[in-house]
Amino acid sequence: MYTKILGTGSYVPQKVVTNADLEALVDTSDEWIQSRTGIKERRMSETENTSELAYQAALKAIDAAQIQPEDIDLLIVATVTGDKPFPGVSQILQRRLGCKPITAFDINAACSGFIYALNVADKMLRSGVYKKALIIGAEILTKITDYTDRNTCVLFGDAAGAMVIGESEKAMIKEVVTYAKGDLEGLLTMEGYPLKKDFKTPDNGRPFLQMQGTDVFKFATTVLPQVVQELLDKAQFNIEDLALIVAHQANKRIIDKASKTLKFPTDKMYMNIENYGNTSAASVPLAIDEAIRSHALKPGDTFITAAFGAGLTWGGALIEL
Ligand code: UT7
Repeated sequence: MYTKILGTGSYVPQKVVTNADLEALVDTSDEWIQSRTGIKERRMSETENTSELAYQAALKAIDAAQIQPEDIDLLIVATVTGDKPFPGVSQILQRRLGCKPITAFDINAACSGFIYALNVADKMLRSGVYKKALIIGAEILTKITDYTDRNTCVLFGDAAGAMVIGESEKAMIKEVVTYAKGDLEGLLTMEGYPLKKDFKTPDNGRPFLQMQGTDVFKFATTVLPQVVQELLDKAQFNIEDLALIVAHQANKRIIDKASKTLKFPTDKMYMNIENYGNTSAASVPLAIDEAIRSHALKPGDTFITAAFGAGLTWGGALIEL
């Protein structure tokens, strides 16, 4: 029993936040942001919560897969910015989409979340128990970003990407790997509720994400080429035969460095960071959907997708369309 992609979809909220908008908030410049990250603008959701972005992306993926919501028997949402701590976005979506009562759960693996969802769904489908999985990466990072911190506030944006995967006689989703290294946790983190030392109600001071950017950059430029090479070795596939590498869109310089390390053409490293910034778990499925819809990826093409992020986590997949 193998798996394949049946359809993809994505959605971004309407409001565009430009680098000039951020110049008005913190001591930064369009020149710094573009040259250090490749980002020109990002989206911000003012009225739609994470489940709404996920819902819109899911409708497009379901349509592209030419299935009905009732055909889905597994629903996984990767997010660190769900509408609420519980219920999960996946359970909200099960009702919104009109799916049958099915297995539906959220995954927290930050920017690698979609690859984790893909890995879990692929293995659950391969077991033969589940037939069609809807997997989604959806984030509203603007909710947890500190707009007084120039080190992080220029980087993040909001989006959702979705994919339907189903059974296949041929292995089209050929390899998926995921990893975590928790000892590097402090490099990219966000505080949660404090422990209850007395019976007072929780302090409502809202926590924000925090990042040691340079250390995360070093980690990313190490694991990205590493995981690509691992996937190629496992699948016994030549890098020259890849149509694209669709990496997590965290920084143009990370992608350029991986291209150099791998000696893989920069123009085959898919890039849309200039329009959306870093959208965490949504980044990879949004980029894959755009690549498919713009025919940068065509049926028969083989590509690698890979991501890295808080946890620290990383992973990747080698897929034939
Ligand atoms: O998705 C999860 C994974 N996340 C990542 O992969 C992100 C990885 N990290 C990065 O992409 C980069 O480290 C950043 C884009 C976050 C930062 O770039 P950098 O080249 O590592 O800059 P830096 O943090 O070393 O800062 C260089 C200088 C500093 O000034 P001084 O100390 O040299 O005077 C910063 O204060 O740039 C300053 N700086 C800024 N200046 C203008 C930092 N942020 C800004 C800013 N505008 N927004």
